[in-house]
Amino acid sequence: MVPAEELREEVRRRYAESALAVADGGAGCGCGSGPCCDDSTASAVSSERFGEVLYDTDQRGELPEAATLASLGCGNPTAVAELLEGEVVLDLGSGGGIDIILSAKRVGPTGTAYGLDMTDEMLALAQQNARDAGVTNVHFLKGVIEEIPLPSESVDVVISNCVINLSVDKPAVLAEMARVLKPRGRVGVSDVVAEDRLSPEERAERGSYVGCIAGALSKGEYEAGLETAGFEQITVEYTQEVADGMHNAIVKAARKATPENHQV
Ligand SMILES: C[S@@+](CC[C@H](N)C(=O)[O-])C[C@H]1O[C@@H](n2cnc3c(N)ncnc32)[C@H](O)[C@@H]1O
Repeated sequence: MVPAEELREEVRRRYAESALAVADGGAGCGCGSGPCCDDSTASAVSSERFGEVLYDTDQRGELPEAATLASLGCGNPTAVAELLEGEVVLDLGSGGGIDIILSAKRVGPTGTAYGLDMTDEMLALAQQNARDAGVTNVHFLKGVIEEIPLPSESVDVVISNCVINLSVDKPAVLAEMARVLKPRGRVGVSDVVAEDRLSPEERAERGSYVGCIAGALSKGEYEAGLETAGFEQITVEYTQEVADGMHNAIVKAARKATPENHQV
């Protein structure tokens, strides 16, 4: 088994490479791609089920081209999470910034949008995209989603697009989401999710870890993990099959008012 730190470094390298390709005017590679960025077979599948096609024309029109080209997700969390003016929204693994720029516009000048990512090259691309989009209420944070650099109970809505499957410590991510959310704060996440019948080995046969397939949680694991972390109103809904038994999915939940195991 690959040690966690090595796996995380592999993920960081892959997405640094992708950010540099987009900054150079090319296309990014990410979820749905094979183990290498130039895996053209996997990219053909990827272009239909991952990335910018998951956003409608109006939303793409609100964004700089580099932000849409850098879209590497497996859904559109901005269409999932209800965002209100003045709210604080946090995007876990904000990449080139597509979802957090759209969210910043939704929460408006009285709201705040935080994009968290561990990859310097992605943060630089996202900052440029936010400037080009003219949004001033976005702040990009460098860090890992397993240790969110924000205070407890400071966020209204957590979004994320195809990043939790890449984490080497998913229980830590779910616990951190519960910690930073205010009581009854909401989660609207897009992610790849496996059917419960698939073992971790069977998931790994269907795609690479950096391509967002091998590290996917199953539906039951997601639901149980969120419940343990202190969430309620949990739903995991498949939207599109991306490989046998593996789906793009929408994950929603609300933080309990006072979770039993919650540490503020
Ligand atoms: C598949 S891309 C998705 C980017 C963006 N959400 C989108 O939809 O285009 C994954 C992003 O998450 C970041 N990432 C992956 N694992 C992370 C972790 N453990 N902590 C922080 N960022 C991480 C990568 O650097 C990359 O920018």
